[in-house]
Amino acid sequence: MRAAIIYHSSHHGNTRKVLDALAAEFGVELVEASKASGIDLSSYDAVGFASGIYYSEFAQAVTACAEHLPAGMPAFLIYTCGSKSSRYGSAIRGVLAERANPLLGTFGCRGWDTFGLFRLIGGIAKHHPDDADLAAARAFYANKVLGAGE
Ligand SMILES: Cc1cc2nc3c(=O)[nH]c(=O)nc-3n(C[C@H](O)[C@H](O)[C@H](O)COP(=O)(O)O)c2cc1C
Repeated sequence: MRAAIIYHSSHHGNTRKVLDALAAEFGVELVEASKASGIDLSSYDAVGFASGIYYSEFAQAVTACAEHLPAGMPAFLIYTCGSKSSRYGSAIRGVLAERANPLLGTFGCRGWDTFGLFRLIGGIAKHHPDDADLAAARAFYANKVLGAGE
């Protein structure tokens, strides 16, 4: 299984921390969204999109990359957020659904959030992603992404 993950992680590097754990364990290739144009996505078996959640959505640069996914290419989503909600990422989910790219699965965990007034109290989800989050991300990747290729 050859997979790449196109990502954006600007607030505290929370999402990148999850992706680094996956890259170390599974050798998945990480591509920052602003550097993804010109990459031939057709050479992968699956492509992931990963981002912090900003105003309930994935970063625009990541969602834009999903619009260039080859037809039929399986996709998966990874995000970190201050507080959990099942409604995050509706724009990128819409892009994948519209283009009929199969969604292998979605992984989300909390990430240190000092946005807005949370800054005044040192942020929320301060020690996340933690070891348990990283273990859950590895299990997600093994089951949903690698498992789909078996
Ligand atoms: C501008 C901005 C908007 C955010 N909006 C949300 C939000 O709608 N819901 C949420 O749970 N967290 C929100 N957060 C917190 C981030 O999703 C969270 O800290 C995430 O782990 C950041 O990932 P990163 O460090 O990879 O960028 C927001 C953070 C910023 C800076």
